[in-house]
Amino acid sequence: MLEDSPLSEEAKRQAVEHALRKSEERFRLVVESAPNAMVMVNSRGMIEMINAQTERVFGYTRGELLGQPVEILVPTRFAGHHPGMRVQFFANPQSRPMGAGRDLYGLRKDGSEFPVEIGLNPIETEEGTMVLSAIVDISDRKQKEEKIQQALKEKDILLAEIHHRVKNNLQIIGSLLDLQSSRIVDRQVLDMLRDSQSRIRSMALIHQTLYQSKDFARVDFANFLDALAPTLIASYGVDPARITLSLDTVGVQLPINTAIPCGLIMNELISNALKHGFPDGRRGAITIRLSRDRPSEVSLRVSDDGIGLPPALDAAKTETLGLQLVNLLTQQLGGALTIQPGHPTSFLLRFPSDE
Ligand SMILES: Nc1ncnc2c1ncn2[C@@H]1O[C@H](COP(=O)(O)OP(=O)(O)O)[C@@H](O)[C@H]1O
Ligand SMILES: [Mg+2]
Repeated sequence: MLEDSPLSEEAKRQAVEHALRKSEERFRLVVESAPNAMVMVNSRGMIEMINAQTERVFGYTRGELLGQPVEILVPTRFAGHHPGMRVQFFANPQSRPMGAGRDLYGLRKDGSEFPVEIGLNPIETEEGTMVLSAIVDISDRKQKEEKIQQALKEKDILLAEIHHRVKNNLQIIGSLLDLQSSRIVDRQVLDMLRDSQSRIRSMALIHQTLYQSKDFARVDFANFLDALAPTLIASYGVDPARITLSLDTVGVQLPINTAIPCGLIMNELISNALKHGFPDGRRGAITIRLSRDRPSEVSLRVSDDGIGLPPALDAAKTETLGLQLVNLLTQQLGGALTIQPGHPTSFLLRFPSDE
C-alpha cells in the first residue's frame, strides 16, 4: 500500500516539519510585532529572543541583548534577588503576573528607569522550558494616577477651606449682631437678636463639624450635637447644675443638605427647653436622643421634665418664629414631628435618611 512505502513516510515527515516551521514562524511574527516588549529567557536566565518593541522600550539593539543575562534590564537594587525569583518560577512554571503587589521597574540602556507591568508565560521549546515575559511600560498610567490623586487632594483642601470660610463668615455675622445688641435696651428685641445669633451659630457649627471630620460630604451628627449643646447652655446663661443636659446618641452621618435643617431644628427645640421649660429657677433635665430605629430613618427626640407646653398652644400653628421654623424644616426634610405637651415635654422628629 501507498502509506507503507518509504517515500510516503518521508513525504509525511517533511510535511510535519514544514507545518512545524510554519507555526514557529507564525509564533515569531506574532511576538515580533506585539505591542509589548517581549523577552524570552532560558532557565539559566539568558536572553534567547526579543522583539522589536523591546529594542524601542529599553534602547538596546537586538545584538546587545541576545545571550546576555536578563538582569541587564532590571534596576540594580532589584537585580540581586532576581535570579532567585527565576529559579522559583522554573520550579513551578505557570502563567502569572510578576511581582504581585510590588511596583516593578525596567532599566533602559541609558540608565533611566520606568514603571512596568510584567506577565510571565512558560514556553516549552526543543531546548527546554523558557519564560516569555511580556513587559508593558506603564509610565503614562502612573502619571495619570498621580495626577488624579493630586487633584483629589486639592479638592479636599479646597472643600476644607470653603467650609472654614463659610464658618468664619457666619461667625462674623454673629459678631455683628452681637455689636448691634449692645446698643439695644428693648428686652424683646434683644431676645430676637439672641435667637438669630444662636441660629447662625448652629449653622456655623455644621460647617465646623464638616471640616474637622475630614469627610466633607457628611456630617457626624452626634459630634455636632456634642458641640451644639454646651454653646446653647452658655448662650442662654443657664446654670448646668440647675438644668442638666444629657445626650444619648449613636453615630449618624447626614449629608449637608439634611444636616443644616436638622441642626436648625435641634437648635430651636433645645433653646426652647432651656428658655421656657424651667422658669423661676426650676430645676430639671433635658435629654436629647439620636437614633436610627429603622435603617432608612433617623429619629431625634428632645425632651424635658419642665413645666410643659402652655395648654392653649397649637404647636403646629404658632405665631412665633421658632416653632414655625421647626414645622417648615420638618417638611423640608420630608419628616414628621410628634409632640407631647408635658410630663415629660417631648418633640420627636423622624425623617428619612439612608445609612
Ligand atoms: N420645651 C418647652 N417647654 C415649655 N414651653 C415651651 C417649650 N417649647 C416651646 N414652648 C412654648 O412654645 C412657645 C413657642 O415657641 P417658639 O415658637 O420657639 O417661640 P419662642 O421660643 O420665641 O417663644 C414658647 O413661647 C413657649 O411658650
Ligand atoms: Mg423658640
